[in-house]
Amino acid sequence: MNQLFYGDNLEVLKQIKNDSVDLIYLDPPFNSKRNYNIFFPTPDGSFNKAQTIAFSDFWKWDEYTAKVYDDFMLGEANTQIKDFLTALKSFLAESDMLSYLVNISARLNLLRNILKPNGTIFLHCDPTASHYIKLIMDNIFGVKNFRNEIIWCYRGGGVSKKDFAKKHDVIFRYSKTKDYFFNVDPVRIPYSEASAERLKNSKAKAFRGDKVYDSYKPNEKGKHPEDWWEIQPLSSSDPERTGYPTQKPRRLLRRIIQSSTQKGDTVLDPFAGCGTSIHVAEELGLKWIGIDITCLSINIIKNNIENAFPKSNFKVHGLPKTKRDLDNMLKEAKEIGSDKWYEFQHWAVNNIPGAQDYVRKSDGSIKKGADGGIDGLIYIKTFDSKEDYKKILISVKGGKNIGVKEVREFNRTVQKNNALGGIFISTREPTKEMTKEALSVGMYKINNKKFNKMMLVNSFDFLDKKFNLDIPQSNIDPALSIPRSRDDSEKQLDFGLIQ
Ligand SMILES: C[S@@+](CC[C@H](N)C(=O)[O-])C[C@H]1O[C@@H](n2cnc3c(N)ncnc32)[C@H](O)[C@@H]1O
Repeated sequence: MNQLFYGDNLEVLKQIKNDSVDLIYLDPPFNSKRNYNIFFPTPDGSFNKAQTIAFSDFWKWDEYTAKVYDDFMLGEANTQIKDFLTALKSFLAESDMLSYLVNISARLNLLRNILKPNGTIFLHCDPTASHYIKLIMDNIFGVKNFRNEIIWCYRGGGVSKKDFAKKHDVIFRYSKTKDYFFNVDPVRIPYSEASAERLKNSKAKAFRGDKVYDSYKPNEKGKHPEDWWEIQPLSSSDPERTGYPTQKPRRLLRRIIQSSTQKGDTVLDPFAGCGTSIHVAEELGLKWIGIDITCLSINIIKNNIENAFPKSNFKVHGLPKTKRDLDNMLKEAKEIGSDKWYEFQHWAVNNIPGAQDYVRKSDGSIKKGADGGIDGLIYIKTFDSKEDYKKILISVKGGKNIGVKEVREFNRTVQKNNALGGIFISTREPTKEMTKEALSVGMYKINNKKFNKMMLVNSFDFLDKKFNLDIPQSNIDPALSIPRSRDDSEKQLDFGLIQ
């Protein structure tokens, strides 16, 4: 069965059997030192002013990386790569770049073990660190197993006035041994008109040993592609778009996967993002394993695969299923406003059908202790000509001390924003006082039916789907909970609601 893992790939990869995967494609964050945001639509077709961070591309020499480095040095990696990292450490010191390279090395070492002897790995990066990554791959996979440096060329986007336009990515292709699988036929490309014409009339011959060939006769199946690929990135209106930043086009992944797999093979993507490689593997009838460290990514992949391939058979691992899992998630979340807390919030909001994430990060940074208000919303169609849609706001709160004061504050936020109602999610069973406060704000009417304005949910109830939300389900447009594309280079706008 296909597998989708939520978690740090460094841990997940340790659970995958050695020599079990035919093709690995990895597109790790590039060390671009920025956050990548994702945008949700509003009913009028524009985008919500608030947005959510899909993932952060900041690498720091911190406790985590120092441990990755120590474990790697003590582990079973070959001495060549260990010596190389030691040399890099004296050259780059404990810098962001070294942190990035140490993290990539630790994953590549595990990936090499997982790859079958005739398998291939494609690592997608850009010129920020490609010069270092090639040396790392040489040390882990062996110089003799270097197969290609593919340059993916594209057009579009911004241009710096003082530089040539930076319009290519680098994809390194390495095999594990010299007996690797490669089939060019499915990925041949059309000849250009001029060369097709020239080749048709060519009388040139080629000599190999004592054999003579019509060397310049065009191949009926198309041209053997070079190692530079002109493949257009996704336009903002491309139907393939999921709204996930850094999403790669399926045509790029088709070329990679079709060239290096055959029927029954398994594809692994340890930095899955919105799951482009997984989609292509599924489309080609291959088996797949995807890993990502964010709930957001896992939810996007899950929804996309279920919609595009209703018969697909896959298992999701790592999202909380039991009380113990959720306790562990909350234990890890520790600090409100931390990355892990944000993961919990996302998981909680996404248990509510039709909900959008709504996270306050106006300067792109992760605000510590930012737990003041609205964490999600649902649009409800009212069929009222004055205001077609109204919002139900969602707040996620943690800690044992959450009580009636927080419910009251959230009630006020709901009123200030003229929202239909609110859903208050907390990590504890609501007390009698909290329930009383929630009921005190009364009800609203939609289609002549009455609904409670304020609902209290204990996050543990999501586990067995026991919760019963008093909301007008049939007035929710599911399309509004799916992120959309938008020029993500645009500066983040202000938070659109009053808190
Ligand atoms: C550049 S994106 C991949 C985009 C993907 N190729 C696509 O087409 O959608 C990198 C992804 O790596 C994930 N990631 C970062 N660190 C990770 C880790 N330690 N384990 C698993 N996934 C990680 C991020 O959440 C992000 O989704």
